[in-house]
Amino acid sequence: DAYHSEVTLRVNGTPRALTVDHRTTLLDALREGLGLTGAKKGCDHGQCGACTVLVDGRRANACLLLAVALDGCDITTVEGVAKDGGDRLHPLQQAFLDRDAFQCGYCTPGQLCSALGMLAEAAAGHPSLATDPDAPPAQGAVPLTPDEIRERMSGNLCRCGAYPHIVQAVEDVIR
Ligand code: FES
Ligand code: FES
Repeated sequence: DAYHSEVTLRVNGTPRALTVDHRTTLLDALREGLGLTGAKKGCDHGQCGACTVLVDGRRANACLLLAVALDGCDITTVEGVAKDGGDRLHPLQQAFLDRDAFQCGYCTPGQLCSALGMLAEAAAGHPSLATDPDAPPAQGAVPLTPDEIRERMSGNLCRCGAYPHIVQAVEDVIR
């Protein structure tokens, strides 16, 4: 009908076709259409960052995007961050564990995706970092100070206040 369209999203490397109401957000398409509940719905209007995913490698608030507009796009959710079917953590995930960079964990999928997007932004010129878990640590090559990390991650709220540990975890993977 006039209110639904079929779209194909490439989600975590796999093409997924689904029919969406034109008002469906990417967040609802992921969570309810595809059963990928990693991206969280905190506010549903762009204020908390819990829904952050990567769209064509750039971080975005999935609650602010319409799925129908993303036909053919590459989407990475937190479910796609670990490798080998989830058996091998991304170094950033390991750093979050090592640094206790969460308490309730509700913001964590968004924090991880946002941090990966931030690292990719900062890694222009340092492409070894990006989001490749097999890449060696960048050994100080990425110019991000703790203040810059805080500023660039300021769209991701954590009501548990894990911010200092989140910054430490990000620092761990860029040292
Ligand atoms: Fe999208 Fe809060 S749920 S920014
Ligand atoms: Fe609870 Fe961040 S760990 S909101």
